[in-house]
Amino acid sequence: MKVIILDNAEQVAGYGAKIFKQQLADNPQSVLGLATGSSPLILYRILIELYERGKVSFREVTTFNLDEYLGLSGDHPQSYRYFMNRNLFDHIDIDLANTFVPDGTTADPRAAAREYESKIAEAGGIDVQLLGIGYNGHIGFNEPSSSLGSRTRVKTLTARTIADNARFFGKDEYQPHLSITMGIGTILDAKNVVLLATGESKAAAVRNTIEGPISANCPASALQLHPATTIIVDQAAAAALDDPEFFKHIERENQKLQ
Ligand code: GLP
Repeated sequence: MKVIILDNAEQVAGYGAKIFKQQLADNPQSVLGLATGSSPLILYRILIELYERGKVSFREVTTFNLDEYLGLSGDHPQSYRYFMNRNLFDHIDIDLANTFVPDGTTADPRAAAREYESKIAEAGGIDVQLLGIGYNGHIGFNEPSSSLGSRTRVKTLTARTIADNARFFGKDEYQPHLSITMGIGTILDAKNVVLLATGESKAAAVRNTIEGPISANCPASALQLHPATTIIVDQAAAAALDDPEFFKHIERENQKLQ
């Protein structure tokens, strides 16, 4: 696990964006795993700017999103498909046919989940998977108690996640309690993982992810088993780590080597 501690959210997104830029330079046909929530928003803005300046192209890229609310169609403003179109896909040269988000309105979610796994495999697997993290350590919608070997499937959201995400829904608007999400096993299969977390509200989840026991109580702690995960956090999200200075020291040494 590589842990990068930076001063603020802009720097966190900038560091993450560099990893994606390098990936696209190395392989223009990359398969990217994408995430929603507020954490990736600045990174998407930077990718759009890089595209506008001709520094990256998404023409041959395929994307798979982590999750979707069950019951919301892609044109619902709170659906993750809508989020991705509005915050990234509409502004870059990607072929929408090569962007995959689980189908929230499928009549057969189990079959749709199996099909999603097959599509990822057919694409050759995910090169870089972007993640945010929930306050309870969830990744995608893999809530605490999720099997660490789980694959794409239907998951029930915790009351905490529903409450955390309620801010995006209108007062009387229907808010789904179910989702289709990549499993933790699916995420661990990605060749590289990049997790972004900022703000003090994420500090406990970040500590449990990096220093806690590997446990279904903190689904992101499964990333300790992943060979190429980069966790990028700001000072506030790093505040509960035992020894943040050690990670900063490692990064300084790495910079010298480069
Ligand atoms: C949702 C998403 C997660 C995301 C989490 C944190 O529950 N399913 O993928 O990581 O929210 O969101 P935010 O980045 O807004 O804190």
